[in-house]
Amino acid sequence: MSEMSRRKVLLSGGALGAAGALGLATPAWGTDEGPRSVYDTEADPVSAQLLDSGVVPEVNRLLWDWTRNDQPLPAGLPGYLHDFIEKARRLPEWADRAKLETAARFNKSRGIYLNLLNGVGGGMLSTAIPKEAWAVYYSKGGADMEDRVAKTSLLGFAVGALNAYRPDGDCIVQAVKTRLVHAAIRHLLQQSPHWKWGIPISQEDMLVTWHTLPTYAMRKMREWKVPISAADSQAYLHVWQVTAHMLGIRDEYIPATWAAANAQSDQVLPPNMGPTREGVELTDILLGQLAEQTSPGSVSRPLCNALARYLVGDQVADWDGIKREPIWGPLIATAWPALVRFREGLIPLPLVPEAAWVIDEAARQYILFYLTKGKATKIEIPTINRPE
Ligand code: HEM
Repeated sequence: MSEMSRRKVLLSGGALGAAGALGLATPAWGTDEGPRSVYDTEADPVSAQLLDSGVVPEVNRLLWDWTRNDQPLPAGLPGYLHDFIEKARRLPEWADRAKLETAARFNKSRGIYLNLLNGVGGGMLSTAIPKEAWAVYYSKGGADMEDRVAKTSLLGFAVGALNAYRPDGDCIVQAVKTRLVHAAIRHLLQQSPHWKWGIPISQEDMLVTWHTLPTYAMRKMREWKVPISAADSQAYLHVWQVTAHMLGIRDEYIPATWAAANAQSDQVLPPNMGPTREGVELTDILLGQLAEQTSPGSVSRPLCNALARYLVGDQVADWDGIKREPIWGPLIATAWPALVRFREGLIPLPLVPEAAWVIDEAARQYILFYLTKGKATKIEIPTINRPE
């Protein structure tokens, strides 16, 4: 069946309804005819116009206190920006409130794994995605990674919060702001003398990064044998499908099921990953921060290296230039799965090696550091690239 007729059948099939629109396309990944050449047709002209007319600092000032999902926009925004946000803040019609509530409870109960996987693991994966490493390195935030991570984790924490998509939550706000930031990056990076890779952050690029978040985290939790009910797993996928939509990823590219997500991840990640000088430098900064931000002396850089390598595997760790740690490496490989089994009530305490608690504590401190830092900062539209 051709793509068009498949779409017609699905869209007209009442029972499938709007949710059937997810994952409708079978895109030509990796080719110029596919999502690699599609960007964000709604947000891109908005951020370009904001930048060209010099109003970004004023817009950032006005949006600083726009923080709640249900909050009216402040007065004084340019009309075209106001119209864009009013449309972009609406949840897709296929969003399912009950599933979002289940996902919120799941995120809370599995918070420690998810924060570790999305924060440390996802961070180390993204530096092994050349186009992303270059984009981050040569944009403004690349020069101040502490601030950049604090800002990025605002969205991560928002997705994981109990009130993520409730009226008093802030996930919609963070996602819509991020969409405007990405659109600004598409406009700005092409003006950088260092930038030689065409328009950044295509639909394909966004999906690649998306898979380093929920798809990777779910696979790891399965690998660690974390018991997850079918309802929780569906809900966790759903909250990330909604988040993908809110970030400007087109519905037809968003995987509809875990099977589709895993297949898409296997298809798009390998050709989009590899080593870069910029990625190695960013990884080194991130791991240095992880070691520093835990209480002095409690977590050494070797432990951080070993933890990162354990989370992302040898191939990615080698691309990222993460050192092999002969002592901590094997220790973590046995201690961490034991800690997970203990947490899940599957083994008694004496079977958990001491090393596991050091990692557990490090993860907590790291998360707390960015939770605290995040409170003092907000996602803002940049006006410049990385300063020379
Ligand atoms: C900014 C999340 C995909 C490059 C941001 C921000 C968030 C975010 C929350 C705002 C934080 C800040 O301003 O520093 C995400 C998520 C993605 C995604 C959840 C996919 C699901 C991508 C991709 C690229 C990219 C694919 C590049 C190929 C950037 C850059 C910035 C940014 C360069 C601005 C950095 C700066 O100068 O401050 N992203 N992003 N992002 N993102 Fe993404």
